[in-house]
Amino acid sequence: MLGRVVLSREQIANVIRRMAEEIDSDLEGRSPVFIGVLKGCVYFFTALTQELAHSVEVDFIQVSSYGSGTTSSGTVILVKDITADVRDRDVYLVEDIVDTGTTLSDVVHLIRARHPRSVQVVTLLSKPSRRKVEIDVDFLGFEIDDIFVVGFGLDYAEQYRNLPDIHEFVPEGHA
Ligand code: IMP
Repeated sequence: MLGRVVLSREQIANVIRRMAEEIDSDLEGRSPVFIGVLKGCVYFFTALTQELAHSVEVDFIQVSSYGSGTTSSGTVILVKDITADVRDRDVYLVEDIVDTGTTLSDVVHLIRARHPRSVQVVTLLSKPSRRKVEIDVDFLGFEIDDIFVVGFGLDYAEQYRNLPDIHEFVPEGHA
């Protein structure tokens, strides 16, 4: 069941502007490739990169964890690879949410194997209390509690990604 608004579209827009300023300062003298982790990243990725003053290359990767529902299962498979050559480039990995850290940790390993100069993690949301794998988040929007959220790219069973605000979501039978 769709619940209260946790982050409004105005709050999201403000934090994206703040993150873009921080990232712009970091981009000086770099050779950046922004890699979005599909599908959840798309709304955040678009809004963020459009706020940047620098020109950046964009690419996408898609991984899938086995199973579906409101917790991730801990094993990812590569569904769609990047096409960019990231050797000696500065990679900014853009995620919607870091939960246990499993997905991002696997994606970071995949990217590091292609010998980029650097890899930095950019995420709109983080649930630090759920972390199972240590992840260095370089640019963070909001920390949230251990609740399941949908909207602004985040889904429940592939629904609700297109909502402009981020809502709490309580699956039927869990209220
Ligand atoms: P992790 O591997 O546990 O960090 O999970 C990351 C992935 O799980 C995210 O990219 C999302 O696809 C999904 N996920 C984790 N928490 C939420 C949530 O609250 N709402 C929607 N998707 C979530």
